[in-house]
Amino acid sequence: MISNLGTLSIFSRVLLMAISLVCLSSQGLANTDDEATETSAPPFPTVHRILKTACGRCHQDGHHRGGIQLNTPLQVNRDAAIILQSIESGDMPYMDPTWNQTAQAQTVIRYLKAVIAQGVDQTELSDP
Ligand code: HEC
Repeated sequence: MISNLGTLSIFSRVLLMAISLVCLSSQGLANTDDEATETSAPPFPTVHRILKTACGRCHQDGHHRGGIQLNTPLQVNRDAAIILQSIESGDMPYMDPTWNQTAQAQTVIRYLKAVIAQGVDQTELSDP
């Protein structure tokens, strides 16, 4: 009886360890799916970082070539359709027609398509 209990508790300890390992690893995955997951829309901060590198010098922080600013969710979401078109056509970034084939561009495109599909209510968007 006693030895039976001993085996059981070892077994349940192993089980607990296995469960917590699974929890830990799924947390790890959740943290890295920003740019990896194909289906879900990436969060705005991820998109903003990419736009800063690819478009920032002409469309952020006081620069607004062509009347386009890409600083806030409101600015990006409001013009999502025209921004998407400019990237997919290869017009933007300026003089960089193959940027739309990069993984970063795909992340931005996924975000813009989700915004357009959701038909975001402009009045509910607030700038950070
Ligand atoms: C080197 C500067 C530069 C960079 C980098 C740049 N743009 Fe532009 N962008 C311009 C200029 C200049 C215009 C206005 C002239 C034009 O439409 O060709 C413009 C216009 C636009 C327009 C309006 C197009 C239209 O038809 O009215 C959009 C949308 C746009 N840019 C998006 C982007 C996005 C998204 C990126 C980054 C992926 C980007 N741009 C990177 C210079 C730039």
